[in-house]
Amino acid sequence: LNNGLAQTPQMGWNSWNFFACDINETVIKETADALISTGLADLGYVYVNIDDCWSLPTRNSEGQLVPDPKTFPSGIKALADYIHGKGLKLGIYSDAGVFTCQVRPGSIYHESDDAKLFASWDLDYLKYDNCYNLGIPPKERYPPMREALNTTGRTIFYSICEWGVDDPALWAGKVGNSWRTTDDINDTWASMTTIADLNDKWASYAGPGGWNDPDMLEVGNGGMSYQEYRAHFSIWALMKAPLLIGCDVRNMTAETYEILSNEEVIAINQDSLGVQGRKVNVSGTDGVYQVWAGPLSGHRLAVALWNRGSTAKTITAKWEALGLQSSISVSVRDLWQHKLVKEDAVSSFGALVEAHDCHLYLFTPKTESLSTLAFA
Ligand code: GLA
Repeated sequence: LNNGLAQTPQMGWNSWNFFACDINETVIKETADALISTGLADLGYVYVNIDDCWSLPTRNSEGQLVPDPKTFPSGIKALADYIHGKGLKLGIYSDAGVFTCQVRPGSIYHESDDAKLFASWDLDYLKYDNCYNLGIPPKERYPPMREALNTTGRTIFYSICEWGVDDPALWAGKVGNSWRTTDDINDTWASMTTIADLNDKWASYAGPGGWNDPDMLEVGNGGMSYQEYRAHFSIWALMKAPLLIGCDVRNMTAETYEILSNEEVIAINQDSLGVQGRKVNVSGTDGVYQVWAGPLSGHRLAVALWNRGSTAKTITAKWEALGLQSSISVSVRDLWQHKLVKEDAVSSFGALVEAHDCHLYLFTPKTESLSTLAFA
């Protein structure tokens, strides 16, 4: 969507994956405080997004949405002021149907009023869900809110959450700043790997202004191992997915923090070239040994060696699969070990990867040869 936003994938936090409906203004404020005190905000996590369950189950007599006075007694405008006072941005949630997924009022046929209300509260971001949609195709239900937001005169990030229905990559680039490519993620290895594959299919449609959204991060929620979360974060970064933290940032373990705060991995995600990395090679039974890669600015590449099998394995990236001429010499930096691991790799690079782990590397070719992946 050409509204000036999303030049790189959005970064921030969303309440749903950890808190679900158990939200209130104190949690939102404490989360904002924690994003600041941990330094995560300085690393780019600036959107603080309220998901479902913030509003009362019915509109008021003027037909307006009303924040639940039990959980948001100060109102959303006051919360936005608080968040903005910290240099962060506040997001909210509604639905392109008659109800949200948790049966709060939806915004279909109220687009203009609701967009005006959100703008009057100084909101910066809208996630727009797909429940109770009257069977009307998303292609028809999502553009009216784009128009309504645009008409407010406030620049509001528009996150389309149509769960991948009707292949949004094919039409949503003109409608939203990101679009979901799949059903909801859950905090398991099976869900995360399945979603990565589904999202990969649409790589060529992502770019500055509009990104494929394989759903929010589960890092830190407890259902996966350290290695699995590192793989999740590496692949989301390489796929130019939105990096929306989904855990309780007020109570992170050191491991969770280490993953989410890896500046070198974040830099892959936020690279100015804005090309989504892809799965470029698989080997082994069921293709469990995988190479994912994507081009970066300055003729560099991000390369992931991902072991989805159950034992450690040496996985090798061949220049051919990366779209590089085999004679090109490359320096290889490991972005989890934070060190140069090979000065002059030629024609291929391999490493032993533990089960369910993922190594992520920055490849810098010694000559200015552009990988053909850049033209994907
Ligand atoms: C849908 C969305 C989720 C979340 C819930 C809230 O399932 O896909 O991301 O917003 O609704 O009810």
